[in-house]
Amino acid sequence: IPLAGVIGNPISHSQSPKMHKYWLRKYGLLGDYVPLHVHEDNLEQVLRTMPQMGFAGANVTIPHKVNVMSIADQVSDRATLIGAANTLIFKNDGKIYADNTDGYGFMANIKQNAPHWDPKAGPAAIFGAGGAARAVIVALADAGVPEIYLSNRTRPKAEALKSEFGARIKIVDWVQAGNMLDDATTVVNTTSLGMTGAAEFRVPLDGLKPGMVVTDLVYTPLRTRLLDEAEAAGCTVVDGLGMLLHQGVPGFERWFGVRPEVDDELRQVML
Ligand code: ATR
Repeated sequence: IPLAGVIGNPISHSQSPKMHKYWLRKYGLLGDYVPLHVHEDNLEQVLRTMPQMGFAGANVTIPHKVNVMSIADQVSDRATLIGAANTLIFKNDGKIYADNTDGYGFMANIKQNAPHWDPKAGPAAIFGAGGAARAVIVALADAGVPEIYLSNRTRPKAEALKSEFGARIKIVDWVQAGNMLDDATTVVNTTSLGMTGAAEFRVPLDGLKPGMVVTDLVYTPLRTRLLDEAEAAGCTVVDGLGMLLHQGVPGFERWFGVRPEVDDELRQVML
């Protein structure tokens, strides 16, 4: 019976078990998916033992997404580029393969919910320069966006991403972040602003206009201020729940042998 799980510290908040258990039930598969609370000091030992316990793989969440990279025996190109892994596959010979499906999940979510979106149509505006922004930048650059505007409260973090990911990135100071909307056609919030319990997203949004595709990685609440204003301005809006759901697809398929669907029923289960 194949097993998978999600490794983090803390872990009780993770939504992944709900999703994978739903898919296991939906497709009538034997197997289970469990939350695993693992301390940093024990990460390597736990990962080395899991294949012997019947695990086919695991998801990895905060704070282990970077550290698993040095423990893994093989790392995918996209995980290397992003500098973090969220999906592990344990090979038959016991080797650990580390992948990152966050960028895939980001793209699949937009493609599913804004089918007419053309990443090449114009610049992308990204708010935030944390871990999530790295996956978004790699995905958008790969999709051929002509230019990426990047704004972060702590400017040096945006500059570090520019020096890493290159010439197509233009830094905009946080106090002028709203100016990124002047000619962007894709707009992404990767900050935690607007999340329940966090500070509000206060960037001026009068630059939002029809034709833009606007997405927020925050999904609690599902409708953030950014998405509300974007919808009112006639933009196509894509909420962040779908990214969480889609990033789980490649792992589930590898561990359990069925490529699961992201549909409305799954969304309802997750809310
Ligand atoms: P994640 O992996 O989700 O990206 P993170 O790496 O902690 O998490 O990044 C959080 C992002 O939200 C960062 O861009 C952070 O800005 P800083 O780099 O300046 O910290 C942004 N963020 C969090 N709280 C913020 C606030 N009150 N105002 C502006 N940006 C904020």
